[in-house]
Amino acid sequence: MNKRNLVTSAVMALAVTMGAHAQRTINYIPDAKIEQRVEQTLSRMTLEEKVGQMNELAIDVLGHWEGSRFVLDKDKLETVFLRYKVGSILNTPGPVAQTPEWWQQTIRTINEYSLKACGIPCVYGLDQNHGVTYTLGGTLFPQNTNLGASFDPELAMRAATITAYETRAANCPWTYSPTVDLSRDARWPRVWENFGEDCLVNAVMGRAMVEGFQGPDPNHIDKYHIGTSIKHYMAYGTARTGKDRTPAYVPEWELREKHFAPFKACVEAGATSVMVNSASINGTPVHVSAKYLTQWLKEETGWDGMIVTDWADIDNLWKREMVAANKKDAICMAINAGIDMAMEPYNLDFCDLLIELVKEGRVPMTRIDDAVRRILRMKYRMGLFDMPNTNIKDYPKYGSAEHFQAAQDAAVQTMVLLKNKGGILPLKPEGKKILVTGPNANSMRCLNGGWSYTWQGKDADRFASQHNTILEAMQQRYGSENIIYEAGVTYNNDGQYWEENEPQIERAVRAAADADVILACVGENSYAETPGNLNDLALSQNQRDLVKALAATGKPVILVLNEGRPRLVSDIEPLADAVVDILLPGNEGGNALARLLAGDDNFSGRMPFTYPRHSASLTTYDYRVSEETGTMEGVYDYNAQVDVQWPFGYGLSYTTFDYINMRVDKTDFTAGDVLTVSVDVRNTGRMAGKESVLLFSRDMVASIVPESRRLRAFTKVDLKPGEMRTVTFTLPADDLAFVGNDGRRHLEPGEFLLQVADKVLRVNCR
Ligand code: BGC
Repeated sequence: MNKRNLVTSAVMALAVTMGAHAQRTINYIPDAKIEQRVEQTLSRMTLEEKVGQMNELAIDVLGHWEGSRFVLDKDKLETVFLRYKVGSILNTPGPVAQTPEWWQQTIRTINEYSLKACGIPCVYGLDQNHGVTYTLGGTLFPQNTNLGASFDPELAMRAATITAYETRAANCPWTYSPTVDLSRDARWPRVWENFGEDCLVNAVMGRAMVEGFQGPDPNHIDKYHIGTSIKHYMAYGTARTGKDRTPAYVPEWELREKHFAPFKACVEAGATSVMVNSASINGTPVHVSAKYLTQWLKEETGWDGMIVTDWADIDNLWKREMVAANKKDAICMAINAGIDMAMEPYNLDFCDLLIELVKEGRVPMTRIDDAVRRILRMKYRMGLFDMPNTNIKDYPKYGSAEHFQAAQDAAVQTMVLLKNKGGILPLKPEGKKILVTGPNANSMRCLNGGWSYTWQGKDADRFASQHNTILEAMQQRYGSENIIYEAGVTYNNDGQYWEENEPQIERAVRAAADADVILACVGENSYAETPGNLNDLALSQNQRDLVKALAATGKPVILVLNEGRPRLVSDIEPLADAVVDILLPGNEGGNALARLLAGDDNFSGRMPFTYPRHSASLTTYDYRVSEETGTMEGVYDYNAQVDVQWPFGYGLSYTTFDYINMRVDKTDFTAGDVLTVSVDVRNTGRMAGKESVLLFSRDMVASIVPESRRLRAFTKVDLKPGEMRTVTFTLPADDLAFVGNDGRRHLEPGEFLLQVADKVLRVNCR
């Protein structure tokens, strides 16, 4: 295996799972010269200038639309910068993506005003969430859920590197990415924005993306890299209702051990900033939690970066969460808790009210200085004082064939083969007629999901027409004469994401008569955040009826799932000969799927989350052992089952792998030991293939009910037919500890089980 991979995954496992009291693995140290410049700048700033730096506004407040063009207004620029000295602007106007040329000029003008106001450049931020969401003609990668499915941090790093390059090409130095929330509830509309349900996967992938975005030195982010804002701190993905921005109730040990872990890994990698969860944990909105913001995130880790609110979330403290009586109280609570920058996004009264609060002594000047120091430090780290703007000529690879190819190669590694009855796939292009059907078959919007050119991703077909839908890619790969297209079900693209037009299932069934095989592309239309909430997790009735009617023709059905979260398919899965979950593979997803179906490439993706089978049985792979028990003797039988459609980490390949000779260097260990676990992996099939090797552990007996399994390390190997590699993981014994109800880590004596694929070893903690 690739040595670098091995070392990286082992180091990451160490960095991620060690507790708050354990040794830190910080990837950067404050740069003395930057610190000196920060102090010099701070020392000459007035209170008005400091408070201005802490305000972030949406670009909409700076101009107006002239037809389809957004134009900056001189008087608005003067108010925002010359009068209020605002430090940051975000978002695309509309919001709809703009050309890099437009961005170059717009951010240059904004910087002119900002520098004129107080000699401090503005920091502009964009949600470049899966590639360059908001700059036209650039590269859109698979969404993070796909990158999670790849189990390959190098892929995530490459995606982030290219995204950083193309973002700087548009003169933007900062992105609100990566997202490392844990998708532990299938209902949540933001499942697809992060790397799946597991904290280690999110930590490793998040860290790789931070390094890809920011480059090798977080103190000196060069003109090809950008600053990051890790979001949304924390436990955002576990709302009790399953709906966006609603309360989470999470025990402290789970927060510490799971939700905090990826943020810790990312700030230790030098992430410039963190964005906060809009909702509350155990009744306290995170935006007012001094414990989570200041104590955990800043003080315990020693992180000197900057914390920004999410959209309008100080206002939400008094308008939605009802923990403050008015805006002034809300500002007071949030800033004192540790918020450094307020994403307002439309109001300047934040500045006036915060100045009043300082003058009244309700917010100490030391807190203001600390916040501004963090903001200035970030601007210095991004190099903005020395180079406030970039030059588009330095970025010839923007939206290049090379970048699109990288997105396609990434997409190939992220699609998950879930079923392949009788080896129906690969489907060799040998003149067989294929019916391509379903609402997702001919849609760039569906391939991309939300955060694609617009917030909800509705206009992707207009902006991404140069890329192939599944239908177009199939026509190219298999020859148009072999492809029949009849959608059967279509989305109402002018309505809510879940709305469909009157189905025409009969037409698809008639078209199937001429086909040898049916490719049914079903799933979801694009959405983002609250508009993506749902009330029924099942795939839509029309789409399930379509698949049932097509299966009734007796022709083999290949089911392609194209969705941001796992929609229930338990009634149609048995009807399909093959199932592929392509998740949200981005602009090159159609081409990637055609390559995989034709057998030009091999599948290597694995489920990044647990795919439920039943609507009322939602779980994660690391459930507690007592959630599943065998039959009991006697008159009362308390047996319980965990019954899922596809487990976390599941995925098939066109080849087969054998795991042989799993071994560990010590079967008895104590705290502080490091275990070396090895296994030989052999490609026993006839096709080259990549295999994700996952090391799980289980604590057999513990003083709190143990989890059924925990992922402890992973890596990916690439093996030719017949080839064998030894995969070695170094597992610090302390990683096997759990956080108890006292908030401390415990490594208890007793037996642990280590598992890689079908191989199991027992080790003993003394
Ligand atoms: C989202 C964030 C995003 C922010 C700025 C919010 O609605 O929750 O993920 O970064 O908007 O666009």
